[in-house]
Amino acid sequence: MARDKKLIVGNWKMNLNTHEASLYLHTLADKVPVRRDVEVVLAPTLLALQSLSLQVNRRQFKLAVQNLYWRDHGAFTGEVSATQLRGVADYAVIGHSERRHIFHESERDVRQKVQAAIRNHIKPILCIGETARERADGETKEVIHDQLISGLANVTSEELGDITIAYEPVWAIGTGNNALPDNVTEAVKVIRDQIKYLHGPKAANSIRVLYGGSVTADSAADYLALEGIDGLLVGGASLDANAFTAVIEKAHKRAN
Ligand code: PGA
Repeated sequence: MARDKKLIVGNWKMNLNTHEASLYLHTLADKVPVRRDVEVVLAPTLLALQSLSLQVNRRQFKLAVQNLYWRDHGAFTGEVSATQLRGVADYAVIGHSERRHIFHESERDVRQKVQAAIRNHIKPILCIGETARERADGETKEVIHDQLISGLANVTSEELGDITIAYEPVWAIGTGNNALPDNVTEAVKVIRDQIKYLHGPKAANSIRVLYGGSVTADSAADYLALEGIDGLLVGGASLDANAFTAVIEKAHKRAN
């Protein structure tokens, strides 16, 4: 996917039941104009994904699943596979810090999920980022580097075109303690340098990189203005129609 569009992803996390999610989609559909320069992706709870996929106007919004399991089918009670999600989800959020830290997803899990998504024509949004402790210990670059190498192992240069990287420092998620623009610029540089090393300058220049972590309607423009940032992964603020619409409008202004 080219970088000529900004990408705004709303991660609703474990909020809104199916009815509420449907109503909320109606509200957003009325508010958010279709812009050629901004792609808007909604990541509802899994339970609502199927019904929203029938309701959504895909020219206006794409859908993402918040997680998936990497095996295609079989005896994996409680899991949903990329194969089952094929045609329902356009994108998959993979390796979100809540998955890594609360549900102890390993680097191997993340890598397998990226592979499974690609195999099933679902575009991965690979989330990476350091914890507060890792940052305090001066390990930010290593963590980003390692998560990137591991998550993208086995991905070909061609497949890379469908992958988006979301830099989400763990300490900035849901805390109101959003990263400084300098922190983000540094991280984006590490990401693009590493992609360049692995896949060459063209790939490094064309991969999409998002920032996520306590983004609000007020802070969105600052991040969207940063060199190398193609959009935002928005959690809390994506559940407020006015705030989320304002973020999208800022992306539209930025793209022009
Ligand atoms: P937040 O969540 O915007 O509420 O910090 C971001 C995310 O989890 O992707």
